[in-house]
Amino acid sequence: MHFTNRFFLLMGAISTILISFTSCNSGGGGDTIAIGEFASLTGKEATFGISSHEGTLLAIEEINAAGGVLGKKLTLKTEDDQTKPGEPANAVNKLIFKDGVIAILGEVASSRSLEAAPICQKNKIPMISPASTNPTVTQTGDYIFRVCFTDTFQGAALANFASGTLKAKKVAVLTDVKSDYSKGLAKSFKEKFSTSGGKIGSELDFNGGDKDFKGQLTAIKSDAPDAIFIPGYYNDVALICIQAKQLGMNIPIFGGDGWESESLLTIGKDAVEGHYFSTHCSPDQGTPEMTNFVAAYKKRFNGKTPDAMAVLGYDSAMVLIDAIKRAKTTESTALRDAIAATKDFSGASGKFSLNAERDAVKALVFIQIKNGKFTYNATVNP
Ligand code: PHE
Repeated sequence: MHFTNRFFLLMGAISTILISFTSCNSGGGGDTIAIGEFASLTGKEATFGISSHEGTLLAIEEINAAGGVLGKKLTLKTEDDQTKPGEPANAVNKLIFKDGVIAILGEVASSRSLEAAPICQKNKIPMISPASTNPTVTQTGDYIFRVCFTDTFQGAALANFASGTLKAKKVAVLTDVKSDYSKGLAKSFKEKFSTSGGKIGSELDFNGGDKDFKGQLTAIKSDAPDAIFIPGYYNDVALICIQAKQLGMNIPIFGGDGWESESLLTIGKDAVEGHYFSTHCSPDQGTPEMTNFVAAYKKRFNGKTPDAMAVLGYDSAMVLIDAIKRAKTTESTALRDAIAATKDFSGASGKFSLNAERDAVKALVFIQIKNGKFTYNATVNP
């Protein structure tokens, strides 16, 4: 891994020299504009990466079909980080130094965005995360953006949901201590729920990828909370719900955007029925931008219904392209400033602006699993 990093750094130095002497066919200097993307196309969270990639690809194809940007076609350079720590750094080093990309789109998972962001910041390559909600991601620096809300907002919305909709007085929290997303969302939920008079019951940990949650669930059961909050990812959540059901626990279980994947339904089956989660958007929200996106995505990807990561992958690319058009250049500082100036953007996920912290300010939706389907439940405005 170290060898690879050094290799790409060296490649970077060489290609910088080459670019200054020749007209290179990548980056912003040639006949195409190279845009980088890193995603978990394989491994434990592959559905995240496959979805965000498909959305991103669709955006690039649509723009190219309409003639490209600044008179040039776009090329998407995609790197698979395999859901593995260490790989996001390799991926963005390769995109920056070998492929000469002008900007990078990715990642879905906060831990992986947090690994890549300092490299993009240091090299002044704008990075737009489609879906990483941990507040610290964009705090890395002024080249790092996201087209989703943060977990400060999501955690507060979930706390209000627990007391308002679920009428819960005491909530147990089960956190994946391997995930920055999970730890951050647990923290903001707990802060808001307790300051508004709720009680946090048992607080237990797991490690993403664990298979047996019976110990934690038994402890939670004996504490008799009104609901369980799991700020986790779909694969772990599905197993936790199955085991909670086996233990005869009939209380509501709820979580955040990390629950969203068809796999939650295929693995969890009747054990996830009736439970709730918050996420970025719903394919049924009825806005023209979403309706058009869903139709185009289904046409392009064999009738598949897009999930939130697909929608946000698409929006991340469209925000970048819009900024290139406004900047009228792919030069890094100008591009950074144009992305930062994104206001009232009509995305497929909804309408949003980027604030001074480079985070999108936008609505969130609640979904309930009903009859084995993700069913729209409510919208929370910022
Ligand atoms: N928000 C999650 C994170 O930051 C990623 C995610 C986004 C998961 C959207 C599912 C849907 O890690």
